[in-house]
Amino acid sequence: MVAPLRIALAGLGTVGAGVIRVLETNGALIARRAGRPIEIVAVSARDRSRDRGVDLSAYAWEDDMSRLAARADVDVVVELVGGADGPALALARGALAAGKGLVTANKAMIAHHGLELAQAAEDAGVALRFEAAVAGGIPVIMGLREGAAANALSRLYGILNGTCNYILTTMEHTGRDFAEVLSEAQALGYAEADPTFDIDGIDAAHKLAILAAIGFGAQIDFGAVETEGIGRLKAADFAQAAELGYVIRLIGLADCDEDADGARRLFQRVQPYLVPRGHPLAAVDGATNAVVIEGNFAGRLLFQGAGAGAGPTASAVVADLIAIARGQAGTPFSVPAAELEPVPPAGAGHRRNRAYLRFTVTDRPGVLAEISAAMRDAGVSIESLIQQGRPEEGGEVLIAMVTHEGPESAVSAALALLEGSPSLTEPPLVMRLLG
Ligand SMILES: NC(=O)c1ccc[n+]([C@@H]2O[C@H](COP(=O)([O-])OP(=O)(O)OC[C@H]3O[C@@H](n4cnc5c(N)ncnc54)[C@H](OP(=O)(O)O)[C@@H]3O)[C@@H](O)[C@H]2O)c1
Repeated sequence: MVAPLRIALAGLGTVGAGVIRVLETNGALIARRAGRPIEIVAVSARDRSRDRGVDLSAYAWEDDMSRLAARADVDVVVELVGGADGPALALARGALAAGKGLVTANKAMIAHHGLELAQAAEDAGVALRFEAAVAGGIPVIMGLREGAAANALSRLYGILNGTCNYILTTMEHTGRDFAEVLSEAQALGYAEADPTFDIDGIDAAHKLAILAAIGFGAQIDFGAVETEGIGRLKAADFAQAAELGYVIRLIGLADCDEDADGARRLFQRVQPYLVPRGHPLAAVDGATNAVVIEGNFAGRLLFQGAGAGAGPTASAVVADLIAIARGQAGTPFSVPAAELEPVPPAGAGHRRNRAYLRFTVTDRPGVLAEISAAMRDAGVSIESLIQQGRPEEGGEVLIAMVTHEGPESAVSAALALLEGSPSLTEPPLVMRLLG
């Protein structure tokens, strides 16, 4: 009989309790596939008395979760607490320093400290895996690291936050405004009481930074992700997009090109995009996630599924444990941590796009001419122009336009010319069209 893989669980919330359920329900099948049983030895959370819907009586309880890392009867610590720093990071460092493997679902911690933790894991000769940190139950890290390992990638992009996708697709289907749909999403449990991390795009940026590092062999650079959330979108934007044949999705996108001197540059952006109705990502509805990887031999690969929730996320955590039990953990990223390159960020200015621009303006003569003049002077060519609504004299009007393909720097220059204009009642909104 092969010795079991002995694990300790830190955090018994949505994902932690989910992991216990997966191991209880599918234990025999998992043991066969892993080549040995995966056995929970010890657990920790804040409140020992809380009913978590799972039986904890067979496991040792540690009030202080850092003690899990010190236990001689534990091979792998599973961190399911959350938070970029604080107790989760202390536990992760402690586990690796003690020669334990580490599995985590913590995208914030990996986006901020992934390189350090990967180096520590490699130095200690132990596993570090974080499949559940990106897109919940979707095996996108395995797909990228193993399945697509033979490919040079041109780009990767996707819908990385289920809360935002739920809000955007509900706005699209119902024609309602952002604030109303957000409150409903909170009431239904699709959005947190404090939804900032999700709706400001930070959660998606954490995941994108991790994927970009794996996909392009670059050191994680979360700070370089150009990040914009969904909070400024109006019902009218969805109506305009629909008229043009598009839907709106929050897209995380990364690519890696060489600059004029032959040096690699990494571009990372999270932003609402207009996605053509025929594109696979346009069909991704509700809280679903999807990631597209474009490889030079595999072509376009699409990974789609539940990006969160107890079952899907726990499934990804246990998949990591199975890989460790099989002795197939590999390096945390696609190459050893010391070989991840420090790739400087690419400026957006030279990038060529078609863009949707929306202006909220006071309804008075000459406003449209002022905007058109700024576009012309900056060299932005307008493909189509829509003026929305004819409110009472002196009210607000929305002007939306789509540009021909051109450099992003030209759009920025046009907006700079309009900055401070008394005609604009709020800063213009820019969304790129996903090409
Ligand atoms: N939920 C998802 O769908 C999902 C999807 C992908 C990734 N993730 C990631 O998975 C991780 C866990 O998320 P979750 O949704 O399961 O969170 P959660 O439901 O809030 O659970 C967090 C757990 O950590 C425990 N905890 C917090 N601080 C602690 C401390 N100082 N010492 C000991 N235990 C502590 C809590 O204890 P008490 O229960 O006693 O309060 C709770 O059991 C996060 O990194 C999250 O980003 C979650």
